[in-house]
Amino acid sequence: MTIRVTELRSDVVDALKATMPSKGAPTSLVETMMRKDMDKDTPPSQDLGRFSTTTVDDAMMRIMPDAALKNIACVEEYPSVRKFQERCVSIIADLWNSPTSDPFGTATTGSSEAVMLGGLAMKSKWQRDNRENPEQRPNVIIGENAHLCVKKFADYFDVEARFIPVSERTNYSMSPEAVRRRIDGGTIGVFLTLGTTYTGHYDPIEQVSNMLDEYERDTGIDVPIHIDAASGGFVAPFTSSNESFVWDFRLPRVKSINASGHKYGQALLAVGWIVWREKKWIPEGLLLESSYLRGTQTAYTLSFSKSSAPIVSQYYQFYQKGLAGYRRLINRYLDIAKLLSLELENTGYFVCLSGSTGRSICREGNHNMNPGIPLVVFTLSEGAKKDYPTLDMSALSDAVHEMKFSIPHYTIKGWGNGGSDAQVMRIVVREDLTLELMQKMMDVIVECVKKLTRE
Ligand SMILES: Cc1ncc(COP(=O)(O)O)c(C=O)c1O
Repeated sequence: MTIRVTELRSDVVDALKATMPSKGAPTSLVETMMRKDMDKDTPPSQDLGRFSTTTVDDAMMRIMPDAALKNIACVEEYPSVRKFQERCVSIIADLWNSPTSDPFGTATTGSSEAVMLGGLAMKSKWQRDNRENPEQRPNVIIGENAHLCVKKFADYFDVEARFIPVSERTNYSMSPEAVRRRIDGGTIGVFLTLGTTYTGHYDPIEQVSNMLDEYERDTGIDVPIHIDAASGGFVAPFTSSNESFVWDFRLPRVKSINASGHKYGQALLAVGWIVWREKKWIPEGLLLESSYLRGTQTAYTLSFSKSSAPIVSQYYQFYQKGLAGYRRLINRYLDIAKLLSLELENTGYFVCLSGSTGRSICREGNHNMNPGIPLVVFTLSEGAKKDYPTLDMSALSDAVHEMKFSIPHYTIKGWGNGGSDAQVMRIVVREDLTLELMQKMMDVIVECVKKLTRE
């Protein structure tokens, strides 16, 4: 029996909202109450600014409840999930051209935890190699285009963050010369991004790596690279540009790479991955053996107990889709991103500045894609700014939100033309952004612009 919310006593409703009720409530009542709140949320498929997976197929849905009850920390009791995790690491290492048949990596709760582990390994290794100079404060090179979690690593683990400015002039990515000017003997490593959160661009990884090779030849100082491939790690390997855009373990200087399984890896929230070039890149003191509960395991993670469900969903996706399935999917996303960019630019209101779909490509009718993730980041065109001086992206984002579409807006400070701030909106192309939904969303955007610019 389903209880209608209007039939509930108000004190019961309030108790459920505010504090834990002294007595439990009937299952159907709790379910009805919670559904009522949850139904007011934006449908995840229309939450167009997020990266995380919002669709699952029926078979995955059937496996998930079993997996959710298994704690990944219990190695003896649940050997299947441990095996799935190890196989995922090995599949991912292969996708990233690992030089070894016995790669070392781990599942994390997302790219944020993975970035912490990558940074911490670089810091510990630097400390181990610089024992004679314990007073020196370590520093790390971070682009202004890096995700907040990279900056968090520096703050949480007491490493000086040396920021590299980015702008339209540097193609929204780090310039190797700017990195060169900031490195020294205290540099634990360089974080580079494969698919930035804000514009989707790839940092020029091979060029930075070459510059660091040169730096080592000149100074004898060996500076490692960690790649934050939160999004690009499950995009680049499936595209034709992966041959020419060398970013992964093919570059000897790349020592560790992370990615979010719950982004383009198509797994359920929340799982990330980190893989090291070789196990020796993790200083021994960080690899802890635990023999708690049954069985022992050597792990390098920040968390202990975790649901197995996201890891199981990752394994399911790898086997269900295979290389061909991922290739098909990712290339479809990139096509849709390009089409969407053209549609947005054709309105005359917007220009796109995202990595794979930027305006020069759209304008020049060039059908090749720049390497980048299927992200559409757009701003007001010069014409729109002139014709509608009061139109702004935050009002547009709010108006679109009222129509039950979430397209977030944000300001990228100093990244615009001549160092100006750029107000942008972002659409992440995912499985549920079908051509029909895209058309519906375009109609909503245009209708909202018209409403906002009506005198
Ligand atoms: C480049 C980049 N790094 C790290 C993260 C954090 O990833 P997660 O949400 O998996 O922790 C994101 C999230 O959008 C990202 O875009």
